[in-house]
Amino acid sequence: MTGFWAERTVLITGGGGFLGRAVRRAVERRDPARVLCPSSADYDLREAAQVTAMLDDHRPDVVIHLAARVGGIGANLERPADLYLDNLLMGTHVLEATRRADTAKTVIVGTICSYPKFTPVPFEESSLWQGYPEETNAPYGIAKLAQLVQLQANRAQYGQSAIYLMPTNLYGPGDKFHPAVSHVIPALVKKCVDAVESGADHIEVWGTGSASREFLYVDDAAEGIALATERYDDADPVNLGTDEERPIRDLVVMIAEMVGFAGEIRWDTTRPDGQPRRRVDPSRARRAFGFEAEVRFEDGLRRTIDWYRGHRDEAEARAY
Ligand SMILES: NC(=O)c1ccc[n+]([C@@H]2O[C@H](COP(=O)([O-])OP(=O)(O)OC[C@H]3O[C@@H](n4cnc5c(N)ncnc54)[C@H](OP(=O)(O)O)[C@@H]3O)[C@@H](O)[C@H]2O)c1
Repeated sequence: MTGFWAERTVLITGGGGFLGRAVRRAVERRDPARVLCPSSADYDLREAAQVTAMLDDHRPDVVIHLAARVGGIGANLERPADLYLDNLLMGTHVLEATRRADTAKTVIVGTICSYPKFTPVPFEESSLWQGYPEETNAPYGIAKLAQLVQLQANRAQYGQSAIYLMPTNLYGPGDKFHPAVSHVIPALVKKCVDAVESGADHIEVWGTGSASREFLYVDDAAEGIALATERYDDADPVNLGTDEERPIRDLVVMIAEMVGFAGEIRWDTTRPDGQPRRRVDPSRARRAFGFEAEVRFEDGLRRTIDWYRGHRDEAEARAY
């Protein structure tokens, strides 16, 4: 731990969200003077004036920007315009307001969805601009990627200390299990748990199962973000990942076994697979700020399932 956090006020946008709550814990462990997590009811970050008011009211030294409109493949297909515009506006306003306020450090959290559809695996940060993202998540991915351009331009012209991190797909306790917004792991866990409870003899899963994903436990991601906030100050974007790739087909079998669902898995091949493969090269994060993911996937998945079983109402409450 360095003296970076001492006497500092840290403001986390989206600090009440899935990743936000984990980042709050990781930052609080470092004992800064204050940690603030205003909600969207306090300040709607799509409005420039409200972002400025948030910084005027709290005068943070560090802003970690996590607030976003986020969802799985279903939400991306149903609400691409919201996912594009809300994320573009929030990120743009936060970067511009922190630049004007001379905030000592601004951390922008992007997404692996910004990578081109057919990125060579493992995804290296240098591949970000080599093509267009997979169609279902392009509006979200492009809106987030615009903030990388903005912070690099601000750094070049004004010397703003802002960094850009790209976590791979996250999972863990506290995730969203509402079908309107859930990502693949919570969606599959809910399907299997529901099937066990109702005695269903099969579940239906979107796509062919041939796509692959990489998963990062939410507390590992939060630790990576805290480490980068403290130690990294450069214009280059940085992946946060584990270097482990899992076919969706294997993931479904693993979740079904852990949940105790022994029925048939039917693939709905009329639904999209999303990006064909995902695994990031995590070496820049290791070199630049010493980040290594620690939680074994099997352990993290078990904790996620246990949390869901114990918190059904809370887990399924949040849609949009
Ligand atoms: N989940 C993943 O797999 C994943 C992977 C890579 C990157 N990320 C990135 O990580 C960040 C957090 O994602 P998450 O999964 O934790 O999302 P989440 O649980 O949906 O949380 C989103 C947060 O954003 C806030 N928010 C939404 N609209 C807002 C607005 N108009 N004004 C102010 N705040 C607003 C929400 O606040 P209220 O609850 O107060 O409305 C909520 O706390 C996002 O930037 C996302 O792109 C997520």
